[in-house]
Amino acid sequence: MRTVHSTAELRALLAGEQRVVFVPTMGNLHRGHLRLIHRARELGGPVVASVFVNRLQFGAGEDFDRYPRTLMDDAQALADAGCDVLFAPDEQTIYPNPQTVVVQPPSEADQLCGEHRPGHFAGVLTVVCKLFNLVQPAAAVFGEKDFQQLWLIRQMAAQLAMPIRIVGHATERDADGLALSSRNRYLSPVERKVAPQLYAALCGVRESIHAGMAVGAAAAAAASTLGAGGWEVDYVAVRDAASLREPTPETTTWVVLAAARLGSTRLIDNITF
Ligand code: PAF
Repeated sequence: MRTVHSTAELRALLAGEQRVVFVPTMGNLHRGHLRLIHRARELGGPVVASVFVNRLQFGAGEDFDRYPRTLMDDAQALADAGCDVLFAPDEQTIYPNPQTVVVQPPSEADQLCGEHRPGHFAGVLTVVCKLFNLVQPAAAVFGEKDFQQLWLIRQMAAQLAMPIRIVGHATERDADGLALSSRNRYLSPVERKVAPQLYAALCGVRESIHAGMAVGAAAAAAASTLGAGGWEVDYVAVRDAASLREPTPETTTWVVLAAARLGSTRLIDNITF
């Protein structure tokens, strides 16, 4: 695997490549990220991963400063997983000037995580757009744990006519159901034991809906169960998976999404059915 830090090195290395498959990350890689690399490999072309902690998608008081930077370990894990190129730019390379041009997400970004993290998705879409322009991939792979993020990236690629296939990959979970996330490292041993309750709550909503409960009531019951268990709940919500809007009688696939804090750690998860 080659590691490059500058745009010039990246462009030189990828010159003439038409089939690049791209996996953007913020580093601190876990098994879930490495599965994205495996999925990227299956798509055929040379695999490029990026590691860049994107200041633009963190709000004031969020964990930008303490977000774990583990580039050496990440590079080794990526090489072992079969990645061909690691692009690890510094902030000056991605944002040489103040980034005053940003991608404006559609209104679906203002709900769910966007309601609790104003500006977050504009920051995500802006860096993803910029990385797409630098890497110029034919396809890009993203984890489905960040369901709203993936939905918005699909919209951006489609509405801005980006010639890039956006591929979602199923959430990786520990045996007890906890979705893998770089932020799981913040959990204390006690919090780690409690953390699978988030996934259990999502499954509970699905079962309640299957049993005939109204979606709003099922989500509210799950939020109150989590609250009683010591979580600070941002939201538990049910949406139409295709539109990210309230389900309608025409809905064929539902998604239950949740975000909640255990101590100072904010976790998100979702299931579709
Ligand atoms: O999902 C992430 O890790 C980040 O939001 C992404 C897509 C790499 C953009 O910084």
